[in-house]
Amino acid sequence: MSFYQVWIRSFADGNGDGIGDLYGVYDKLDYIRSLGVDGIWFSPLYPSPNADHGYDISDYRAIHPDYGDLDQFKRVLDKAHRLGMRVLMDLVVNHTSDEHPWFQASRQSRTGPYADYYFWRDEPNDWDSLFEGKAWTYDEVRGQYYLHLFSKKQPDLNMDNEKVREEVKDIMRFWLDMGVDGFREDVINFISKREGLPRGIPFVPLVGGMIHYKDGPHIHEYMAEFRAVAEEYGAVQIGEGPMTTVRSALNYLTGATKSLDMMISFDHMFADCFYIEYLHLPFRLTRFKRAVSRWQNALAGRSWNVLYLENHDHPRIISRYGSERFWRESGTMLAASYLFLQGTPFIYQGQEIGMTNIRLPAIEMYEDIASKTNYERLLRFESAEKRLRRIHLSSRDSARTPVQWTAGPNAGFTTGTPWFHVNPNYKRVNAAAEARDPYSILNFYRRCLRLRKRSRTLLHGRYREYFPHHPHLFVYERTLGRTAYLIVCSFTSKEVVMSLPPAYQGHHLTLMLCNYPATDGTDPVLRPYEARVYRTQMGKDAR
Ligand code: NOJ
Repeated sequence: MSFYQVWIRSFADGNGDGIGDLYGVYDKLDYIRSLGVDGIWFSPLYPSPNADHGYDISDYRAIHPDYGDLDQFKRVLDKAHRLGMRVLMDLVVNHTSDEHPWFQASRQSRTGPYADYYFWRDEPNDWDSLFEGKAWTYDEVRGQYYLHLFSKKQPDLNMDNEKVREEVKDIMRFWLDMGVDGFREDVINFISKREGLPRGIPFVPLVGGMIHYKDGPHIHEYMAEFRAVAEEYGAVQIGEGPMTTVRSALNYLTGATKSLDMMISFDHMFADCFYIEYLHLPFRLTRFKRAVSRWQNALAGRSWNVLYLENHDHPRIISRYGSERFWRESGTMLAASYLFLQGTPFIYQGQEIGMTNIRLPAIEMYEDIASKTNYERLLRFESAEKRLRRIHLSSRDSARTPVQWTAGPNAGFTTGTPWFHVNPNYKRVNAAAEARDPYSILNFYRRCLRLRKRSRTLLHGRYREYFPHHPHLFVYERTLGRTAYLIVCSFTSKEVVMSLPPAYQGHHLTLMLCNYPATDGTDPVLRPYEARVYRTQMGKDAR
């Protein structure tokens, strides 16, 4: 399996209002299928005031009017199924929007049926919100504070309340009855908070309270309830686990507490930063490799990895781990660096055409709440100019610019006025131009997925990394029986001499894929950001 992620607002506008929608998605389903993926994950499509672009939901059983309606969703679902693709919805149940009717009822009464749907206190504790200031906001109507781990407009649901868990199960059934195939579950490791909401670790900003809500005391009981619903339908469940460790992820993925099919981890996304937006560091390949290998090795034979380099929460990968100067080379190399690992690859919209970060000249032009508050929060320590440069490197908005379909007006995203800035590089970076070019990033993604799908070794083979300390090369193999694939990726703009791992020396290697044209793969010198995928048969006792 492999998935394509759609963040709908910027995907494709079908009705000319400047906002991506399900009409646009419908028309692009063949394109998505042509990549070779087997499914789509939709970031939230539900009605939302968009304080956090869809992750603040005001109605779990409808489609945001900007994106269409349930009938149009069903058309998309049916067509996706006809094309052989599964569809995953985003299940966001750590919090709702403050405009959700449950919250509106909860703030009205301390005794009514919704009184305990959220966390209300006369005195807040010391936890920080991950998005803005303290995790508590005073509500005038109820005369109490409510908890929000994310923005003020995203109050946390009280999952200890059995009625809330019943609501979650009903929501799951609603979409599963309609025919969706499963869920990506938002910050799912945060949904159980420690009783009494105790003080966090003193003097630890942002994450000081996390020890009381990450993998909280009742998480596995609650997850088991949701799992039972998914199992009734044979639905897939993929959890998002911010700050998760391999060890805690394994509790969700294996054994008696297994409640997820896969976990979205973050470790490999911290090779140039600490927690995406907060602290930017120079990219270090060894940090990336260490994280990848840790997950590959720990899950081997026990579970299944989520493979990704981009989503709506991360800036564009070429601008981070690759090079905009070596745009095509690094965009293709990055594809090879992860598409042959063990697990299920996810490709985020625009990644397959090598979209890069946008650099807007003023913070007011940004949309994302996390970028705006991060800019403000650290303004005490850095000049405005420096802060803005960091936002250029780290903003989630770089992943949220309209998808570049053509070199025409608005990059072919809309016939109206786009809701957000189009990256000015669209004349060069766009799907139409790349479809015509056999050596494009787009066609390289297609080739990688085709190769992966055809090979049992690439799907099920054992993972092993070579030269883990090499600062520029990521070299790994996948082996099954006597078949071995060796994947060699250069993460530098300089030429590097590669030596083969000893087990491969003297073997005949067939070059299956390379991101440079006209090459036979025998030259020991790797060109900037070169990627090669070799295949060979090992002797019986070669290992
Ligand atoms: C993770 C989502 O991917 C992100 O976009 C969102 O802001 C937070 N969870 C809160 O829902």
